Amino acid sequence: MKIAIACDHAGLELKSALKAYLDSRMIPYEDFGTDGTASVDYPRYAEKVAKAVLSGQFERGLLICGTGIGMSIAANKFAGIRAAACSEPFSAILSRRHNNSNVLCMGARVVGTGLATLILEGWLNAGFEGDRHQRRLDMITRIELGNQPPTPRQETPSEATSPVENKLLDEDTKPVDANG
Ligand code: RB5
Repeated sequence: MKIAIACDHAGLELKSALKAYLDSRMIPYEDFGTDGTASVDYPRYAEKVAKAVLSGQFERGLLICGTGIGMSIAANKFAGIRAAACSEPFSAILSRRHNNSNVLCMGARVVGTGLATLILEGWLNAGFEGDRHQRRLDMITRIELGNQPPTPRQETPSEATSPVENKLLDEDTKPVDANG
């Protein structure tokens, strides 16, 4: 698995520590910057990593800024990117199991090096569980494509939902087991 990494000025130190962790695990990565402490704009780096992942040359992306939030907002603007901003391992692992996250974002002003390393480790090792979660990701893809099913409010009798669309809507609201 090859990882595309980037940070802004706030994330530089944590990025270095996480690169050392990846080196120790012999996990290949490419660093897309930034390389210095001068103030930079995090969306530029989120864009580089999002495009690298979408190119297929990198399986996953890792983005670090002050909070992880700006990076995740920017990365999630790219269709096909599922970026999760995490500050503890549980969410990071579940973002893989349930959301098939392909970009992990962390905040260097939120988590220390030790915790960030555990978050990254859990995220790298967790796999997507598919099944009902895939169905939900398909719904997100539909949203990305601007192809949402019509809501009742928008419908007129002549635009009534087709049987196929009804089945999709039923699936959307079907109850699931306790673990959801
Ligand atoms: C930079 O000061 C900071 O705004 C940035 O690193 C990030 O936290 C944005 O979400």
